[in-house]
Amino acid sequence: MPSLLSPCSYCLLFFYFTLLATTAVFPATSAPPQPQATISDQFLTPHNQARAAVGVGPLQWSKNLTLSASQITNAQQKAACGFANLNSSPYGANQAWASYPMGPAEAVGSWVNQGKYYNHTSNTCAQGQECGTYTQVVWRSSVAIGCAQVTCVSKAGGGAPAATLTLCVYNPHGNVQGQFPY
Ligand SMILES: *[C@@H]1O[C@H](CO)[C@@H](O)[C@H](O)[C@H]1NC(C)=O
Ligand SMILES: *[C@@H]1O[C@H](CO)[C@@H](O)[C@H](O)[C@H]1NC(C)=O
Repeated sequence: MPSLLSPCSYCLLFFYFTLLATTAVFPATSAPPQPQATISDQFLTPHNQARAAVGVGPLQWSKNLTLSASQITNAQQKAACGFANLNSSPYGANQAWASYPMGPAEAVGSWVNQGKYYNHTSNTCAQGQECGTYTQVVWRSSVAIGCAQVTCVSKAGGGAPAATLTLCVYNPHGNVQGQFPY
């Protein structure tokens, strides 16, 4: 694993108002999923589009990794859908938390969207920005992926939206310090 990860280096957090603000400023980066698209395709397609955009081959869907991801998100469901601490995981991991029901395409799109801050010439991220979820998405030597989502009902009740935790795990993991993603 990369050595300098905080418990959630590769995570994104969305509150309902954040979504609205973000949507107002930036056009959507990924097309909405086709109604017939399977859940795995809803995760996989935007990953592989982002990878193709930089000349990196596609990820393959892994049932094993999906099972691992599901076990983790199911455990987090009992912890109010908070971020999992995956520092000791052998896999790469991207997480997204939203205060509302977030679909796979939007979660992956939020990771891919970090790419606008990534400078491939210098392999650095714009100051004050995070690029780690993007670089994991496009990491060339990662070949397999599995993803899961869980929702939790807000303790506030009163029709408050359910929170959603999204997790994708990648094998082999990316974000190796000192290496370029592609
Ligand atoms: C999937 O998991 C099973 C059980 O742990 C293991 O035997 C198998 O080798 C794994 N397959 C892959 C492709 O990792
Ligand atoms: C990217 O990094 C290179 C090398 O440090 C620099 O010359 C270039 O201006 C940077 N590009 C942007 C868009 O900041």
